[in-house]
Amino acid sequence: MVIGVLTAGGDCPGLNAVTRAVVSRAISEHGMEVVGIRNGWDGLMAGDVRPLDRDDVRGILQRGGTILGTSRRDPYVHGQGYESVRETIEANGIYAVVVIGGDGTLRTALALHEEGLNVVGVPKTIDNDIAGTDMTFGFDTAVSIATDALDRIATTAESHNRIMVVEVMGRTKGWIATYAGIAAGADAILVPELEANLADVADTIRARHRRGRTYSIVVVAEGCTPPDGRQITSGVDAFGFDRLGGVGYVFGAELERLTGFETRVTVLGHLQRGGSPTAFDRVLATRFGVAATDLAAAGRFGEMAALRGMEVVGVPLAEACADIRGVDPALLDVARTFFG
Ligand code: F6P
Repeated sequence: MVIGVLTAGGDCPGLNAVTRAVVSRAISEHGMEVVGIRNGWDGLMAGDVRPLDRDDVRGILQRGGTILGTSRRDPYVHGQGYESVRETIEANGIYAVVVIGGDGTLRTALALHEEGLNVVGVPKTIDNDIAGTDMTFGFDTAVSIATDALDRIATTAESHNRIMVVEVMGRTKGWIATYAGIAAGADAILVPELEANLADVADTIRARHRRGRTYSIVVVAEGCTPPDGRQITSGVDAFGFDRLGGVGYVFGAELERLTGFETRVTVLGHLQRGGSPTAFDRVLATRFGVAATDLAAAGRFGEMAALRGMEVVGVPLAEACADIRGVDPALLDVARTFFG
């Protein structure tokens, strides 16, 4: 029995750990063969596949990026759905495909499953916003990087009596902003889930400086919308999604105007997706890869590996695709306790 594995969408620390786990589990536990599909759905459409054995995945557990390559090309946007991948599936005798991806990729996986392809999903994104799982791998690494950046920015900020605005990733939800903001003791955290009230933030900062503090740190998720309602974008990606980034500059200028305090803005961008996964992400990604392979071996297609509490279980892909998971209001309330 041959299973394929692909990584699609934006990359994320821990993708290689999943690939390694799928290959090792499939070969050693289920006696399967594995083929790696290059560059996401593009490889499945173009027939760009190669066999993977255990030696091919040695030494990659701790490596960022993905040895398989990735892309945002998609059989429903750039092809004719299942018809565009049928030839590769049949020519290589692929029985099932383990699809490692974010919300867009998992929606495509579900659509292909409904057309008859045997798929199992693994939820991936630093944004941590996929429904059906309590956490995605990559998030912990991104939070660690953002927290380290905020800690560093605090030391330069305190020397200058400034407001420092730090923009982090988070297209639609503010998970990284909330976790890193709490971890670094931010004075304000702005997330797409809530309308940004910059007048309130300015009041908080002014009060803080009156109490003798010499600097303030404001964390902003890239998906926040400025007061005029127009999201800050720079074109669209290959999938047709808006390219976000830059709202921190808009908020920074407004906070400087409202408070009179000099303000500097840092956009962390892709730094948050680079480098080695944390130990937590290596373990979660490994568990997801093992679970997804077991789901495929058991014929549980149309499901995805998911973390529920401390356990990794299979959940319907339809559940993951039904919603985008936002930050729990209770967590935002915890963060608010320390503002100012
Ligand atoms: O993985 C999700 C994400 O990190 C978003 O937060 C961000 O908007 C997007 O990827 C950017 O991806 P890219 O620049 O690779 O298109």
